[in-house]
Amino acid sequence: MKVFHTISEIREFVRAAKGRGESIGLVPTMGYLHDGHLSLVRRAREENDRVVVSVFVNPLQFGPGEDFERYPRDLGRDSALAAGAGADAVFAPEVAEMYPEPTLTHVTVDGLSEGLCGASRPGHFRGVATVVMKLLNIVSPNRAYFGQKDAQQATVIRRMAADLNLDTSIVILPIVRESDGLAMSSRNVYLTPEGRRAALVLSSSLRLASEIVDGGERDAASVRRAIVAGISAEPMARVDYVAIVHADNLKPLDRLAGRVLIALAVFIDKVRLIDNVVLDLDESAADGAR
Ligand code: PAF
Repeated sequence: MKVFHTISEIREFVRAAKGRGESIGLVPTMGYLHDGHLSLVRRAREENDRVVVSVFVNPLQFGPGEDFERYPRDLGRDSALAAGAGADAVFAPEVAEMYPEPTLTHVTVDGLSEGLCGASRPGHFRGVATVVMKLLNIVSPNRAYFGQKDAQQATVIRRMAADLNLDTSIVILPIVRESDGLAMSSRNVYLTPEGRRAALVLSSSLRLASEIVDGGERDAASVRRAIVAGISAEPMARVDYVAIVHADNLKPLDRLAGRVLIALAVFIDKVRLIDNVVLDLDESAADGAR
């Protein structure tokens, strides 16, 4: 497996592959790969002739005071894991390669970027959409793979690809969880042992919500109250947001109907974790979005 650091090298790799009639799958990541990323790489391996994994901690999507500097980085480990999962190439540019000048051009997906994580991380999805657009332009893959754990990111990227007629299929794959339910995340390494135990409150409160909905509850405020109560029972946890929205347009719902996304962000000490579940419910209870 090859590791490239420059745009011209990865472009040459892709040009040669496409010249042989091969298809390209891209798995964009910020590195510190875990099984969630590797599930994307394995799927890309099944569906494409060549698989490229990008490893780039994108400064544009971090706000002031966020963890850009201390975000975990280990390219040797990432390259070995990517190769083991079937990648043919890792594209790991430096910041100066991706942004030789401060970028004046941004991609903004209006209407999907401001709520949920966007409310507590202003500018985050503009940074994500911009770097993903750049990566798609650099690698020009047939397919690009993202995880459902970042549900809002997945919605933003899908919409960007549709609005801008990108010639890349956007593939979204399910959340991969630890055996006790914690959603896999590179940021889980920040957790202390007590924090790691407390972090189970994210998945357990989502499970509780699913059970309440299975039991027939359709009032979003009641479901939300139950989730917040569940999280608040954990002393180490502080709710950033709990949102109950339509999965496609991210508009808040009063009543649960259709494809419903229940998404949350919770601080465990200073570590901000996210998780979500999508419920496919009967449309008939719909009363429209607020
Ligand atoms: O999900 C991530 O790791 C990042 O947001 C992405 C899509 C690689 C863009 O930097």
